[in-house]
Amino acid sequence: EVLDEVSVDGVVSYIKSGKCKNIITLAGAGISTSAGIPDFRSPQSGLYHNLKKYDLPYPEAIFDIEYFKLNPKPFYVLAKELYPGEFIPTPSHYFVKLLHDKGLLLRHYTQNIDTLEHIAGIPVEKLVEAHGTFRTSHCLKCKKEYSQEWVKDEIFADRIPTCIVCQGVVKPDIVLFREGLPRRFYELSSIDFKHCDLLIIMGTSLTVQPFASLVDNVSASCPRLLINRDDVGLTETRNVFQQLFGGAVRDVVLKGDCDDGCKSLVNKLGWTSDFEALLSG
Ligand code: OAD
Ligand code: ZN
Repeated sequence: EVLDEVSVDGVVSYIKSGKCKNIITLAGAGISTSAGIPDFRSPQSGLYHNLKKYDLPYPEAIFDIEYFKLNPKPFYVLAKELYPGEFIPTPSHYFVKLLHDKGLLLRHYTQNIDTLEHIAGIPVEKLVEAHGTFRTSHCLKCKKEYSQEWVKDEIFADRIPTCIVCQGVVKPDIVLFREGLPRRFYELSSIDFKHCDLLIIMGTSLTVQPFASLVDNVSASCPRLLINRDDVGLTETRNVFQQLFGGAVRDVVLKGDCDDGCKSLVNKLGWTSDFEALLSG
């Protein structure tokens, strides 16, 4: 077995051994909740439980490209409501940055569109923004590019961002339901996972495909560490972590807050002062 002990300590000693050279991190909304950005599926605070006033046919419609083309208004009203006042990465983001600084990060795959990975200083070549990003936007008709600032100003003026050239609707470059993922996601994931020595999964319910299936792409012996508050993957159609919880020989769950989980890993790894330097900017 790769881990001498199937536990968090086993993962820590594996990283310290020097045999673990290529770490892939997978992330979801849970790594940004402590920055004040709600996740989607948490029972009280999750976005999908707080959409009644938008009068949608179903909650996910607010992020559906066909619905957006018919009626972009709810999306932009929500975008204004949720627009972060400031963009401050969380300790979980800085943990990934620290893995990079230590030369251990092969790639960070995120479902988040909040740009916090970018702000935390994880270089673009290490980043796969699987569901796109809010940093840039494009006109749906003529494809003219618009900046985050321009779109933000339109949103805050309660206008639907509209192309100055052709009057088409301008949409942030995030992947809505029924849109394809970026080519980069497929190109890199088809190679990266062959080289992965350790997979760390943080703050995601692993319900949205194809992202959720990335956990299956590592080799059968590659250790997987899940840091999450709730059990995940336990839907009718998908059962990844039941397999994981039962899998035992290589899967470790660090259940709880992901910032706490990252801090405890950092301390066990002896990286505390480097981490604090990152946190204090
Ligand atoms: P979800 O809201 O589905 O899942 C977030 C997970 O993070 C849940 O399991 C929470 O328990 C956990 N969580 C929340 N805060 C946490 C914390 N502080 N510490 C530890 N765990 C925490 O969000 P995603 O899995 O990211 O897609 O959702 C995936 C996709 O569904 C999103 O990218 C979005 C959405 O529809 C599109 O819009 C295309
Ligand atoms: Zn246009």
